[in-house]
Amino acid sequence: MCGIVGIVGRKPVAPLMVDALKRLEYRGYDSAGVATIEPDGAFARRRAEGKLRNLDDKLQKSPLAGLIGIGHTRWATHGAPTESNAHPHATDKVAVVHNGIIENFRELKDELKAKGRVFASETDTEVVAHLVSQAIDEGATPEQAVAQSLKRLTGAFSLAFLFPGHPDLLIGARRGSPLAVGHGDGEMYLGSDAIALAPFTDKVTYLEEGDWVVIDRAGARIFDEHDMPVSRGMVISAASAFLVDRGNYRHFMAKEIHEQPEVMSRTLGQYLDFTTGRTALPAQLPFDWKTLDRISISACGTAYYAGLVAKYWFERLARISVDIDVASEFRYREAPLPQNGLAIFVSQSGETADTLASLRYCKAQGQAIAAVVNVTTSTIAREADVVLPTMAGPEIGVASTKAFTCQLSTLACLAVAAGRARGVLTDADEQALVSALAEIPRLAAQALRLEPQIERLAKTIAKARDVLYLGRGTSYPLALEGALKLKEISYIHAEGYAAGELKHGPIALIDETMPVVVIAPHDRVFDKTVSNMQEVAARGGRIILITDAAGAEAATVDAVETIVLPAMPATVTPMIYAIPVQLLAYHTAVIMGTDVDQPRNLAKSVTVE
Ligand code: F6R
Repeated sequence: MCGIVGIVGRKPVAPLMVDALKRLEYRGYDSAGVATIEPDGAFARRRAEGKLRNLDDKLQKSPLAGLIGIGHTRWATHGAPTESNAHPHATDKVAVVHNGIIENFRELKDELKAKGRVFASETDTEVVAHLVSQAIDEGATPEQAVAQSLKRLTGAFSLAFLFPGHPDLLIGARRGSPLAVGHGDGEMYLGSDAIALAPFTDKVTYLEEGDWVVIDRAGARIFDEHDMPVSRGMVISAASAFLVDRGNYRHFMAKEIHEQPEVMSRTLGQYLDFTTGRTALPAQLPFDWKTLDRISISACGTAYYAGLVAKYWFERLARISVDIDVASEFRYREAPLPQNGLAIFVSQSGETADTLASLRYCKAQGQAIAAVVNVTTSTIAREADVVLPTMAGPEIGVASTKAFTCQLSTLACLAVAAGRARGVLTDADEQALVSALAEIPRLAAQALRLEPQIERLAKTIAKARDVLYLGRGTSYPLALEGALKLKEISYIHAEGYAAGELKHGPIALIDETMPVVVIAPHDRVFDKTVSNMQEVAARGGRIILITDAAGAEAATVDAVETIVLPAMPATVTPMIYAIPVQLLAYHTAVIMGTDVDQPRNLAKSVTVE
């Protein structure tokens, strides 16, 4: 959730750290800070509440000259997002930045207070600084102090340390939250992900679970959780190949919505062979489609909704029952799992704490683990038996858009492959579905052309206090996703419902002030949804119907504004209908004047429970 950077370099590192933190700001943006060792050997620290630009302003007014430093962008867990709670936290012996949660911080704090140590913040992080300081005061070297302290900590975290009097020493540690080491020329780096390090180097070593690393200008020495020296390979990161900028778009979210034809095409190209019209999954799968009785899917938020769509596909196209739950529930549910079952985890970041915990539960229960992830170097990818990458490229806007449609594209290919392998689909069925999926980039481009109309409709939504989204079948998860997208970026209250559930409660909310967005391609359940629209119209509700030409014609309901998409086979509607839903939320948020890419209270990568 928070972003960490560390640099031991040959020129002043503060501006470089700000550059890296800009790339990590999506992980949290409540406050930010840097600490350096200045040429006179003393610690210096600048911290600021709010966005990174506030820290940048402070550094402009009061620059730092140190050639070594650590930096942080925060998503508050313990303690309000104030300057005093901002990282780095420091004593006279050490400064530390931290991503994650130290679960036993209260008992450690009591113990350290009893030894006379005085705390300056409400954070869990500060106990780490005091624990390490205490060890140094008792005679340990910085390395020994970190090694000893790590053994006292419980929780999931990554850490970076800086020591006054040691202008050539950075120490990093990883347990549960990712940390990458970057190798430069006479310079070395630490970062929460390779994207942060991309301006400096593409040579990256990912720490493994439990590892800690001692860095100087010449290189890195890595130790495992038992303090044994280990060698971890260096990889050339592709992150630098991606331009992490907004291009001509006002927001990353707009850019990412518009990238969807291209990135879905790239993703589909990974799993489909367009020359043979067949699916093309990795040759060695750690399970047999034919003998699978059940699939378990776990994920969070938008990724969960992608999994929910996939449930409909797996059940219809492959006749496999799917059990799906949000990962935060699944991980504690103690679900009995079938012998040799398959568990699928869907995650853009590949670091979501609840999804990772669910993965570990399923692994312990002997399930084959498949990960549909966007970040292939992530922990979820590394712990899976098979990785099915989505090819969305870095997603910077906090609200997920292109990662969602790439997750859907991947899962659709998986469901078709399963259907064919199980004999539910014939060769001809498979070819027809592959041809339909191949049309997605073209259809997505057509959907984007509706943007001017959607921008106009957003004015209606922006006036509302509450908005209802309805859908049936695979459009039901889209209704949930539409409501999530709207509330997270515009702060307008929204709910998604299965259209058939309307009568069982939410209809009580309908009046002339309530816009109802109905997602209804002209499919086999369309007529049922029309009945629900009639129930809304009869109560004065204002309907925005997202459908196709046949649906627009057949929807004989008053008070309807219609967004008309091209006709398309049922299996591809979720990927295409997602686009107007995203655009409606985006333009509403722009009208509301919110911070679209970094909405309040949110962070991109949720590495805490
Ligand atoms: C909403 C959104 C979140 C994420 C969720 C899971 O727009 O982005 O709901 O989908 O936090 O994140 P990942 O996919 O990284 O596991």
